Amino acid sequence: MNTPLLYSVTALFDTPDGIIHAAEAVRKAGYKRYDIHTPYPVHGMDDAMGLKDSKLGFITLGAGLMGGAGVFAFISWVFMAAYPNVIGGKPFFSWPAFVPVTFEITVLSAVLVTIGSLIAFFFKFPNNSHPLHDTPYMKAVSCDTFGISIQADDPKFDEAAVTALLTSLHPRTVAPVCYDEAELNHTWKTFDPKFLALLAGVALLVSAATYGTMNVVLYMPPFDWMMNQNKFKPQQTTEQYPDSRMMRPVVAGTVARGFTPYPYKGMADSAGKSLVNPLQPTAKVLALGKEKYLTFCSPCHGNFAKGDSRLRGQFPNPPTLHSDKVRTWPDGSVYHVITEGQNIMPSYASQISREERWAVVHYVRALQRAFNAKESDQQ
Ligand code: HEC
Repeated sequence: MNTPLLYSVTALFDTPDGIIHAAEAVRKAGYKRYDIHTPYPVHGMDDAMGLKDSKLGFITLGAGLMGGAGVFAFISWVFMAAYPNVIGGKPFFSWPAFVPVTFEITVLSAVLVTIGSLIAFFFKFPNNSHPLHDTPYMKAVSCDTFGISIQADDPKFDEAAVTALLTSLHPRTVAPVCYDEAELNHTWKTFDPKFLALLAGVALLVSAATYGTMNVVLYMPPFDWMMNQNKFKPQQTTEQYPDSRMMRPVVAGTVARGFTPYPYKGMADSAGKSLVNPLQPTAKVLALGKEKYLTFCSPCHGNFAKGDSRLRGQFPNPPTLHSDKVRTWPDGSVYHVITEGQNIMPSYASQISREERWAVVHYVRALQRAFNAKESDQQ
């Protein structure tokens, strides 16, 4: 054990007024390195001690400005250089859109740096040894007494003079506090590998526990979040029905709401005889028919229905629609072929509505007329 060194001379007071008075007197006497310890914040103490504002605010300001400027520069770089996308026709540097993120990052960096520097620089965490720790003085001031401690490293310090000054202030007790140099740790331990390892360990443990709870434990039985329910799914088999099909076939004769079934299914002759084009060949109807014809029919039948397919032999060429056969067909027969298909030509009923089919029929008629013009058409 080394010889104990003098850290400070302390005095304990019973009342807040007593300690305020003591602080003023000690400040007036010219001491700089002294501190006050009270069980609760005492109003007017900073004035009595002549304390200046904390420098923490500057750190907060600096961190906020740096974070804000940094993220603003980053967003600008992203939108102007890295990913210059036109969004809603706005210029690349449309700064109003950057404001929310800039604001958030400003606050976030200010807060994190404030707390971090408070703990690491001002409190010197994780260093925690101090000569006043574990002394009767500290026990008293953390309970119900008000204490002042004038440190031996003050330039004006003289043990006898300080003791006399403190005694003159009518304290409860005056006592020197000594410490053993070897027991104090002076090196700053924030970047001590052991401490960093501890931090990493805690972070790992907390993350693992969070992940495990949220993603594993909460999905173990009995927690299944209603993902496993007794229900039938369309494509599954079942023993409930003799045909094992879960998805039940519609009852024969079922008709979709608002839909009248095509009455001439497989009856090409009756369709030709009975169906009448309900549309007039107006410019509008012909335009609609042209649009649908060029979209759905022209790939096989050619733009002018001459049977000159554009499919380059990938599908058998259809016959020309300018044949006498189709020209003399009633509208109903052409309509029937579009609706039901004919041999290898598939049905277009699902792609082209009924009205559109009749418009296409008109357009096919117009094409036929164009290539087989009558004498009277030529005037
Ligand atoms: C996938 C190619 C293809 C498309 C698309 C197609 N057809 Fe056909 N079409 C054919 C073929 C091939 C035939 C001949 C079928 C046969 O052998 O009976 C045919 C036959 C026809 C016939 C009967 C011709 C005749 O002489 O018997 C008509 C009318 C007809 N198509 C109209 C249309 C209309 C209108 C469209 C557009 C809605 C259309 N087709 C779309 C391939 C097509």
